[in-house]
Amino acid sequence: MRVLVAGAGGMVGRAAIEHCSALGDEVFAYDHKSLDIADELQVGNAFDNARPEIVINCAAWTDVDGCEFDHERAFRVNARGPELLASHSRRMKAGFVTISTDYVFDGSKEGFYTQRDDPNPQSVYAASKLEGERRAYATSARTIVVRTGWVFGHGGKNFLSRVVEYARSGKPLKSIADSYGTPTYSVDLAARLRELALIDLPGLYHIVNGGHGASFAEFARESLIIAGRDPSIIEDVKMDSLQRPAPRPRNSRLRCILSEAIGLKPMPEWCEALASFIRSE
Ligand SMILES: NC(=O)c1ccc[n+]([C@@H]2O[C@H](COP(=O)([O-])OP(=O)(O)OC[C@H]3O[C@@H](n4cnc5c(N)ncnc54)[C@H](OP(=O)(O)O)[C@@H]3O)[C@@H](O)[C@H]2O)c1
Repeated sequence: MRVLVAGAGGMVGRAAIEHCSALGDEVFAYDHKSLDIADELQVGNAFDNARPEIVINCAAWTDVDGCEFDHERAFRVNARGPELLASHSRRMKAGFVTISTDYVFDGSKEGFYTQRDDPNPQSVYAASKLEGERRAYATSARTIVVRTGWVFGHGGKNFLSRVVEYARSGKPLKSIADSYGTPTYSVDLAARLRELALIDLPGLYHIVNGGHGASFAEFARESLIIAGRDPSIIEDVKMDSLQRPAPRPRNSRLRCILSEAIGLKPMPEWCEALASFIRSE
């Protein structure tokens, strides 16, 4: 299988390359330096070179707070980018998988968000990602949008991926206790991205690890317990106390109503996935 991966230098991009390569795919991996997904000429050249059968887009401007101050860049990368990739996927008759976010929801729901819930993005990042979903669908009928959330894994720069590293200092570690999501291991996500591409059933999927989700503080405590460290260094804080520029949903736990219907195996529970990640570090 000829697979083009955009955003190859990012956390999910790396996992996708590793997974597809291990399964014997011919992988054409483009990081940000070698391909700007919002540059039509570069995208056209990359597709002419790779002639992909499957395209997996892991590229995005993921700086949620940064997006608040640069609306144009956010929409250029997160909306125009998927649109161009979808357009060239269509030209090549390739399947197109692009990743979106749990942040498209406003967080006011108590339970899990499914595909039946209407998005209501609260930040520029979230609005740009939702626009990317819409443009990709409008451009190629073979679009698969995968919304995920709270991704952790190798090479990740976020709190979830680095909590054990931060804990090494032994100092108290502030962690948000009143915001809930569904933690997801980049390795499990990458495997599902490829699986969905092969099944080739266009649509919107919510792909996260199993379980009831967690707050950042619960996730952090579980990480430290698995790593054999003292979880009492976690200091619970309220999300609002951080006063970050971009609003985040208080609850963005996802559940998929399609995966089971098409016969996909349940994703591993997040605690098991976290243990695999920490033990592989
Ligand atoms: N991490 C999470 O918790 C999470 C949650 C929900 C959804 N997602 C989605 O999952 C996907 C993968 O995210 P991730 O966690 O792997 O993020 P990441 O580690 O930040 O990777 C994103 C990659 O995209 C690259 N990029 C930025 N602008 C680009 C452009 N114009 N052209 C090409 N590449 C560009 C970045 O390169 P530079 O760093 O060099 O700019 C980076 O390597 C994204 O769609 C994200 O929105 C992530």
